[in-house]
Amino acid sequence: MSGHLNAHRFITLEGPEGAGKSTLVPKLATWLESAGHHVVQTREPGATALGREVRRLLLNGGDIAAETELFLFLADRSHHVKTVILPALADGKIVLCDRYVDSTVVYQSVARGLDPVEIDRLNQFATGGLLPGLTLLLDLKAEIGLARETKGDRLDREPLDFHRAVAAGYRVLAERFPSRFEIVDAEQDPNAVFSAAKDKITTFLGLRA
Ligand code: TYD
Repeated sequence: MSGHLNAHRFITLEGPEGAGKSTLVPKLATWLESAGHHVVQTREPGATALGREVRRLLLNGGDIAAETELFLFLADRSHHVKTVILPALADGKIVLCDRYVDSTVVYQSVARGLDPVEIDRLNQFATGGLLPGLTLLLDLKAEIGLARETKGDRLDREPLDFHRAVAAGYRVLAERFPSRFEIVDAEQDPNAVFSAAKDKITTFLGLRA
C-alpha cells in the first residue's frame, strides 16, 4: 500500500483474537489524556450508528460469502473514516483505533483467501488513502488468544488453522511495513503489555518518557 496519507496522530492496534486490545485501548487513552492530549478511542467494526448495524450483521449473522463480508467491513470503515477519524485528526486529536485496514488484509485475504491486490485497492478506496502513522501489533500465538477469548462470535468460531493464519499474517505485514508497525509481545501479563505499548507510543509521538 504505497502512496497513502500517513497520519502522525493516528494509531491503530491490531492482533489476533484474545490479544487484549480492548482492555489496552482505554488504559492508553487515560494515560495520554493525563499527559494533556485529546484522545478519541474508537474501533472497527461498529464505532458509529451505521457501523453498529453492520457489526451486528457481521458478527451475529449466519453464513456470509467472503466477498460480502469484505464489503461490510469496508462499508463500516469508509463511514468511520469520514465521520469519526478524519474530523478528530483535523481537530488535532490523537486517534486510537482498535482494528483498521490491516485486519482486512489479514482476515479477508490471508485467512479467507481473497485476492490481496484487490483488498489493498479496496482498502485504499474506502479510506481515501488514510493510513496510521503507528500500528501496534499485539502478537501472540493463536492458541493462547483463543483460550482467553470468551465472546464466541461468528469469527471467533473459525477453526484453529484460521486463527493461526491470522497470527502469521500479521507478522508478515509487520515485516513488510517496518516503519509503521511495532510489535508488542501480548503473551506477557497485561501490565507489561501496557508498559511496552506506552514506550512505543512515547517514541512515536516524541513524548518524554
Ligand atoms: P471484535 O469483537 O471487535 O473482535 P476483537 O475484540 O478481536 O477485535 O470483532 C471483530 C471481528 O471482526 C474480529 O474477529 C476480527 C474481524 N475483522 C475482520 O475480519 N476484518 C476487518 O476488517 C475487521 C475490522 C475486523
